[in-house]
Amino acid sequence: MPVIVSAPGRVNLIGDHTDYTQGLVLPMVLDVATTITGDFTDDRSWHLVSDDEPLPVVLALPIERPDLVEPRWGRYVAGVLHELERAGRTVRGFSGRVSTTIPIGSGLSSSAALEIAVARVATADDSMSDTEMALLCQRAEHLASGVPCGIMDQLCIASGRAGHATLIDCRDLTIEHVSIPSAVAVDVEFVAPRTLAGSEYADRVAETAAVERIIGPLRDASPESLASIADDTLRRRARHVISENQRVRDFVAALGAKDWVEAGRLMTESHRSLSRDFETSNATMDAAVERTLRRPGVLGARMTGGGFGGCVVALSSVE
Ligand code: GLA
Repeated sequence: MPVIVSAPGRVNLIGDHTDYTQGLVLPMVLDVATTITGDFTDDRSWHLVSDDEPLPVVLALPIERPDLVEPRWGRYVAGVLHELERAGRTVRGFSGRVSTTIPIGSGLSSSAALEIAVARVATADDSMSDTEMALLCQRAEHLASGVPCGIMDQLCIASGRAGHATLIDCRDLTIEHVSIPSAVAVDVEFVAPRTLAGSEYADRVAETAAVERIIGPLRDASPESLASIADDTLRRRARHVISENQRVRDFVAALGAKDWVEAGRLMTESHRSLSRDFETSNATMDAAVERTLRRPGVLGARMTGGGFGGCVVALSSVE
């Protein structure tokens, strides 16, 4: 029987660079997705062609080094299959096709969607919880790309619901589905291509770890604790994370109170914090946010996701 699975892209409404210090994030799934169709086979190999890539991926199981697989898009597939076998799962052979409507390399988590789609195929007859699947795919992403990403993308994609944002507590991995009211619209605009591999993403992970060695877990830290960080850069990194966790709470409260203006303001403030304190924006993204903010009806805008390019997400009121 043919297999058809898909996994959506995601955009983050607010709460960036908080997931890897056990903070709060509020991403939502998009109506673009990666789809895999195909059939299980009787041999121990995976064969995938892609509508978007010139070369197919051919993988013999078991896979020892996902990070060395060519072509490179196969590393995400290999990472997931490697982790599944390491977790004691039996992986059947598969032959199929990948297609996607998620713009690749735009910061909307096309790689996490591919990982979750592969995991859904490979666990088709032996199901796995959303959280377990997300954690497995996060490990696969680490292996495939070398980027020490947090859990946000994979967990949002594994568990998200249409029309809802996913409030994730990255400490205990609990999830709350937050309905997006019809009085507001969420728009995503692609600005510039980006890749987190080779970016300063890993530096930010290291800097926040250095902060935590001084003041303890950022998740528990208060703005008062900033005074005990002597280094200016580390203090600004901490200020972003501490204030961003609070903005996620405030944003959810603002949606609940139907205070769209406040929700928009918090998104714009989040962008400024990412730009000034966390330094994961750049001139192109800053200019795109300012341009978006001048559009009629826009209540707030920010760069979304890992940064250094990608997309701007905006909140607007619907007349
Ligand atoms: C990327 C990572 C996520 C998260 C964001 C920033 O999307 O994959 O884990 O850290 O950047 O919020």
